[in-house]
Amino acid sequence: MAESSSPRGAWASKTGFVLAAAGSAVGLGNVWRFPYITGENGGGLFVMIYLVCIAVVGLPIMIGEILIGRAAQRSTVTAFKTLAGPHTPWKALGGLGVVVAYLVLSFYSVVAGWAVYYTVIAARGGLGGRSPEEIQEIFGATYTSIPLNLVWTALFMVLTVAVVWRGVRNGLERWSRILMPSLLLLLGLLLVRATAMSGFGEAFAFVFGLHADQLTGGGVIEALGHSFFTLSLGMGGLLTYGSYLEKQADIPSMSAGIAGLDTVIALLACLVIFPITFSYGLEPTQGPGLIFTSVPIAFAQMPAGGLLATAFFALLVFAALTSAISLLEVAAAYWIDERGWSRERAALASGLGVSLLAIPSALSGATELFGGRMQAAVGSNWFDLVANIASNWSLPLGGMGIALFVAWRMPDALRSVEFKSGSRWAGFYAGWLVVLRFVVPLAIAAVFLHAVGVF
Ligand code: PHE
Repeated sequence: MAESSSPRGAWASKTGFVLAAAGSAVGLGNVWRFPYITGENGGGLFVMIYLVCIAVVGLPIMIGEILIGRAAQRSTVTAFKTLAGPHTPWKALGGLGVVVAYLVLSFYSVVAGWAVYYTVIAARGGLGGRSPEEIQEIFGATYTSIPLNLVWTALFMVLTVAVVWRGVRNGLERWSRILMPSLLLLLGLLLVRATAMSGFGEAFAFVFGLHADQLTGGGVIEALGHSFFTLSLGMGGLLTYGSYLEKQADIPSMSAGIAGLDTVIALLACLVIFPITFSYGLEPTQGPGLIFTSVPIAFAQMPAGGLLATAFFALLVFAALTSAISLLEVAAAYWIDERGWSRERAALASGLGVSLLAIPSALSGATELFGGRMQAAVGSNWFDLVANIASNWSLPLGGMGIALFVAWRMPDALRSVEFKSGSRWAGFYAGWLVVLRFVVPLAIAAVFLHAVGVF
C-alpha cells in the first residue's frame, strides 16, 4: 500500500490518510445512489433520517473502525486476531467484511462502467444538443445492452486492479488533490445553474421539507444502510486504511471532517439533480438511471456543455475508482496478510473474482434475470438484490459488530489512548463510548426489527 522505510508502510502524511479515506467515502454513493434512493423514498423525511444516522451512528462507528486499525496495525481479519486472540469469534466480523467487499464491488463496478461509457459518449459529442427524451433513450439502451455492460464493467475492473496491484499510494494521492476538488467545483457550477431553473423551489422542498408520504419500513433501513455505504463503513476498509496511520493523528477530528465532506457532496448532488428532474418533468422515482438522465439534460442546454459533461463523468469515474480500490484493497489485504500471497496475485485474483460476480449484475437490465422469474419471485432483479443485502443489511451488521467490539471488548487503556492521542476531541471520549455501547447497537437493532415488521 505504501512505500516507506517501515515494513508495513505508512501514509507519507496525515493528508495521505485523509485523502484516501475521503476518496473511499466520496463516490457513486454520494452522486449516483443517494439522489436516486432519496427520489424513491419521497425525499424530506428520508433525508432527515439519513442525516441522523450519519451523525449518531455512522460517525461514532467510523472513529471506532479507524481506531481498531491503528491499534492493531493490521488489516481487517488479522486485526481482530491481534487484538482479541487467534481463536476469537470476532475474526468472523473481519471475514464478513471481506465477503461484503466482493459483493459491493460486484454491482459498484457496473455503475462505474456506465460512468466510463458516458465519459466516452460525452467526449465524442454524443450528448450535446439532445432532447430530454433522447437522453432518456440513451440510458435505456445502455442499461439493457449486454455487450456495453460487460465491456465497460470489465474495463473499470481492470483500472481498479491496476491501481491496487501497484499499491494505493503510487500517484493516486497526488491526483486526488486536484481531481476531488474539481468534482466539488463542477457540482457547485451545476448548483448555480440549478438555482435558476423553474423546478428549484419544488426540488428544495422535496429534499428538505419534512413530508413522510412515501417512506416505508424499507426506507428507514435504506437510510441506515446508505449511511454505512456512503461512509465506507462496516466492512473493514477504513480499518485497513487506519492501520497505516501515524500515532499522533487526531482520529475523531479527521472522521468528522470526512463525514462532513461526504454529506455536503451528497446533499449538493440532490440539489443539482432534483431541480433538473422537476423542471423537465422526469420521474424522481426512476431509480438507478436518475443521474445518467438528469445531468446530461442540464449540460445539453449549457454553453460548452459537451466539455463540461465529459469532465463531470470523468471526475465521477475517478471518484468511483478511489472508492473501488478501497473495496478491492480489503479483499486483497486478506489474501496478503492471511494467506501470504503477493500483492500482485492477490489483486488479480480478487479482481477476477469480483468480475465474475459482477456478470449477473451487469446483465440485470438486459435480461431482468431468468426472464423476469427471479424478479417475480423475490420482487427484485439481481442488481437490486445484491445491493440490498450488502448495503442495507451486511454493512450495518458489520458496523454493529465493530461498535460492540470497540465498546465492550477492547481494553479501555488501549481504546482511550487511540481516541485521545493528539485529539482536540479528547473531552468527548466518555460521551462517545456511551453512544457506541448503547445508542448505536440499539438503534441498529431497532431499524432491523422495524424492517422485518416487528414494530
Ligand atoms: N463509500 C463509497 C461511495 O459512496 C462506496 C463504498 C462502500 C466504498 C463501502 C467502500 C465500502 O461511493
